[in-house]
Amino acid sequence: MDLYEVLKNRRSVRKYKPDPVPEDKLPTLLDAARIAPSWSNKQCWRFIVVRDQETKKKLAESMPEKNPAKKAVGETAPVVLVLCADPAASGFQDGKDYYLLDAGLALQQLMLAAHAEGLGTCWVAWFDEEKARAACAVPKDHRVVALTPLGIPEKQPSERPRKELEEITFGEQWGQPLK
Ligand SMILES: Cc1cc2nc3c(=O)[nH]c(=O)nc-3n(C[C@H](O)[C@H](O)[C@H](O)COP(=O)(O)O)c2cc1C
Repeated sequence: MDLYEVLKNRRSVRKYKPDPVPEDKLPTLLDAARIAPSWSNKQCWRFIVVRDQETKKKLAESMPEKNPAKKAVGETAPVVLVLCADPAASGFQDGKDYYLLDAGLALQQLMLAAHAEGLGTCWVAWFDEEKARAACAVPKDHRVVALTPLGIPEKQPSERPRKELEEITFGEQWGQPLK
């Protein structure tokens, strides 16, 4: 699939078919995350692949009732990935914690690869970290950054709106229109 097609058509998927994730796809996706750029190439990320229904249920319990991805994590998606990161293995500068960026880039690469392979994902950051930590025995020196369900989408969700380019880009100086 063409890169721009992947970028354009990736969606947050919250409804999944019960079919399993083909086993040969998982290493491909994790490898897409593995080769992401990171602060000083420290690769502070770790991924936990959860297939066990009880663990998925515990992860869903870490999410508020109102989180629209709760059912996908706890019930419908055959796999849930837990993204962890070690802040000490990344950079901190001018109040900016780069482990979040490192981990986010890795997960985004995985998500784009998943879409190219016909699989759906959904960033989940609205959860109780300590409950998610306990569900997967994540050590104290690592943060639980995000979760994502992974599976075959029930259907392609519709496109969410985005700001126009003129709203988010400037030319040369802040506030100047880009010509
Ligand atoms: C950092 C981050 C956290 C998010 N957390 C959640 C979440 O907890 N639950 C959820 O259903 N979607 C979550 N999302 C998905 C966004 O709602 C979604 O990306 C946005 O509405 C745009 O839709 P699209 O991904 O289909 O283009 C999150 C996305 C990001 C980038």
